[in-house]
Amino acid sequence: MADQIFQKVADLQAQIAQANPTTPEALEAFRIQYLGTKGAIKEVFKYFKEIPNERKKEFGQKMNALKEFANQHFEHLKSQIESAGEQQEGADLDLTAPGEPLPLGARHPVSLTLNRIIDIFKKLGFSIAEDREIEDDWHNFTAMNTPEDHPARDMQDTYYLRNSTEMLLRTHTSSVQARTMMRQKPPIRIIAPGRVYRNETISARSHAQFHQVEGLYVDKDVSFADLKQTLLFFAREMYGEKTKIRLRPSYFPFTEPSAEVDVTCFICDGDGCNICKYTGWVEILGCGMVDPAVLKNVGIDPDVYSGFAFGMGIERQAMLQYKINDIRLLFENDARFLKQFSSAF
Ligand code: DAH
Repeated sequence: MADQIFQKVADLQAQIAQANPTTPEALEAFRIQYLGTKGAIKEVFKYFKEIPNERKKEFGQKMNALKEFANQHFEHLKSQIESAGEQQEGADLDLTAPGEPLPLGARHPVSLTLNRIIDIFKKLGFSIAEDREIEDDWHNFTAMNTPEDHPARDMQDTYYLRNSTEMLLRTHTSSVQARTMMRQKPPIRIIAPGRVYRNETISARSHAQFHQVEGLYVDKDVSFADLKQTLLFFAREMYGEKTKIRLRPSYFPFTEPSAEVDVTCFICDGDGCNICKYTGWVEILGCGMVDPAVLKNVGIDPDVYSGFAFGMGIERQAMLQYKINDIRLLFENDARFLKQFSSAF
């Protein structure tokens, strides 16, 4: 009798080993048939009381092994069915189908203008120097030959950091001139684009933050003629082959002599329009020969080296170019405004 029962256990194990359900439904049927509360394994357990005492232990071990085997087989089948299912899902995926179109963003008009300026100066061998927006008084003012009592230092114009008379938000990218010359010996030929800050009332024409590009060229025998030629090249590349430039004497603490530069109005070609206020000229930048005092401040010998520098605002040029009549639009990031530049690059 006991032998017959042991045979049943062995038969059941063979039966389970052969079972090969391939769908989730068949697998569930398998589980119910063998592992369920009324399943075949539980049924065989019922014979326990008919096993003679001396073989009860052996029977218990066999039954445990059978249960263990059935569970493992179930898990194995389950993972097979699952991975087949995943492959099936993959098979439905058409990898050659065109993707969902991603809505294209647009470059900001300030970036568009800045990138054009950068590309032009790159052609002339200028490299890009970027530096901090939180600056100290020395690099922003003192090194740039701006005396203590200069109006540009006035609390009205400069954002000082809280409780500080030393640290400020740079008011111009000219601070990068000082940073670069302290770090690097001539020849130096850099442009420094970046954001600057001034404590100004925000209106259609001016903002408390804007962007500038600074230029600096220091070497032996750099002359005013080099400056003029560089700016003429820039103006022609930027505003068209026929563009003329005009230099007006001006004053900046860090350059001597200094000039402001106008270009012929690219809207009316110099005939006069409301953009150039009927003068035929638009002002685009300030420039000059680096003041020997600045060179001295940063440890460059002004008897050996000379240089020119210039600084221009980006927003104004972007506004002229794209006929934007309110500078605030450039900082509001209203998608309806920015979208209009999606075809520009
Ligand atoms: N830093 C001046 C400004 O913020 C612009 C400027 C003028 C920069 C003349 C220069 C320069 O490098 O030579 O208005």
